[in-house]
Amino acid sequence: MHTTFSKEEIINIRKRFPILSEKIYGKDLVYLDNTATTQKPADVIEALADYYKSYNSNVHRGVHHLSQQATDAYEKARKKIQQFIGASLPEEVIFTSGTTESINLVAQTFAKDHLKKGDSVMISAMEHHSNIVPWQMICEEKNAKLKVIPVTENGELYMPGFEKLLDKTVKIISLTYVSNTLGTVNPVKQIISKAHEKNIPVMLDAAQAVQHFPVNVQELDADFIAFSGHKMYGPTGIGVLYGKEKWLKKLPPYKGGGDMIKTVTFEKTTYNDLPYKFEAGTPNIADAIGLAKAIDVITEIGLHKIHHAEQELLKYATGQLKTIPTLRIIGEAKEKAAVISFLLGNAHPFDTGEILDKQGIAVRTGHHCTEPLMDFFKIPGTVRASFSFYNTREEVDALVKALRRIDNMLN
Ligand SMILES: Cc1ncc(COP(=O)(O)O)c(C=O)c1O
Repeated sequence: MHTTFSKEEIINIRKRFPILSEKIYGKDLVYLDNTATTQKPADVIEALADYYKSYNSNVHRGVHHLSQQATDAYEKARKKIQQFIGASLPEEVIFTSGTTESINLVAQTFAKDHLKKGDSVMISAMEHHSNIVPWQMICEEKNAKLKVIPVTENGELYMPGFEKLLDKTVKIISLTYVSNTLGTVNPVKQIISKAHEKNIPVMLDAAQAVQHFPVNVQELDADFIAFSGHKMYGPTGIGVLYGKEKWLKKLPPYKGGGDMIKTVTFEKTTYNDLPYKFEAGTPNIADAIGLAKAIDVITEIGLHKIHHAEQELLKYATGQLKTIPTLRIIGEAKEKAAVISFLLGNAHPFDTGEILDKQGIAVRTGHHCTEPLMDFFKIPGTVRASFSFYNTREEVDALVKALRRIDNMLN
C-alpha cells in the first residue's frame, strides 16, 4: 500500500522530535493528542535556546547590537508567517499569545464601533469555547445576538441553515476552519464568498488548519484568521492574528502600553502604525523566533506531503477502528483532518483514556472545549485520537489493539 514517507524518511522525521523516543510507564510513547498540542522538533528547541544564549535582548528599542539582532529575528519571523499564509503585507501579521487572544482581540475591538443593539454575530455549533465565549461576552455587552449555524448528524455544517441565518443583522461571522473535535473541514471559501456578497467580514479560527494543509488568506479572501504556534510544532505562548490591512487600520487598539504608541502626553496619545498598534509591551520575542523555525521545518518537509501523510493515516485509522464492533465514530464528514472522536460501547471516555495511558498511548478525553457540540450529540464527551505526520501505522495498530482489550474489559 502507498505511503507518503518511506520507512527511512519517517524514522528520520521522528528523530527530529526528541520526545517521541520517550518511554511512558516503560512503554513506547504513542502520542495521539496532536490537536491539543503538537510535539516540538529539536530545531525549534535549539532556536529558543540560541536566542536566550546568544542574542537575548529587547526589540525595537535599543541601538545596541544585540537589540538589532533580536529585532531582525523577530521581524523576520513576521515575514516568514506572512509568506506562510500568503498575506500581502507583513503589517497584517500581529503576534498574539495564541488563537484565544487573537479572537478576543477581534471580538473586543470590532464590537466597539461595529456592533450595536439588535445586531448579531454568527458562529457555528462546532466552535471551540474560545470562538464562542469572546463573542458571547461582547454580544451581552452590546445587546447583540449570537446566531449559530447548525451541524448535521455526520458533523458537517448545515448550509441551508447558514443561508437562512445570513440576514442584515449579521455584522461578522467567526468560524472554525477545522473542527478540533470532529475533524470536519468546513467549506469556508464558499461561506466567505456568500458573506462578502452582503459585505459581512469573516474571521476564521485556523487553529486546526494551518498545520495540516496550505492556507492562503488571499485565496480565501478571509478578513481575519487566528492560529496558535504550539499546535503547529512551535512553542506555547505565541500565536498569530492575520487581518486585512483595511480592517486592522479601522479597528481601535486592544491593549495600551509601550510599543503601541507614537506619542504620549497626559492629554492625548497617538497610536503606532501597524502592526505595532496591536502589540503593546515587550512581545514574546523568543517564541516568535521559535514559531518561525517551526514553519521552516514544516516547509522543508512539505505541507502537501504532510497533508497527504495525515490523510493516509486518517483513512487507515478510520478503517481499523471500524473493525471494533462497539466503536462509534462521532463526526464522519466527507472532508476531514486527521482527528477521530469516538466512543467505545458504553465505556466512559475517561476510563478508556486512562487505560490507554497505561499503555503509553496519549489521547484526549472529554468535551474538548466544545460543550455545545457534545450537547448536540447528546454525549458527555468522546475519546479523541488526533494524528500528525510523525505518527505511524504501527501506532494506529497499537491503539486498535489496546482498544480491543479495553472493549473486552469494560463492555
Ligand atoms: C479549533 C480551536 N480553536 C481555538 C483553540 C484555542 O487555542 P489556544 O488555546 O492555543 O489559544 C483551540 C485549541 O484547542 C482549537 O482547537
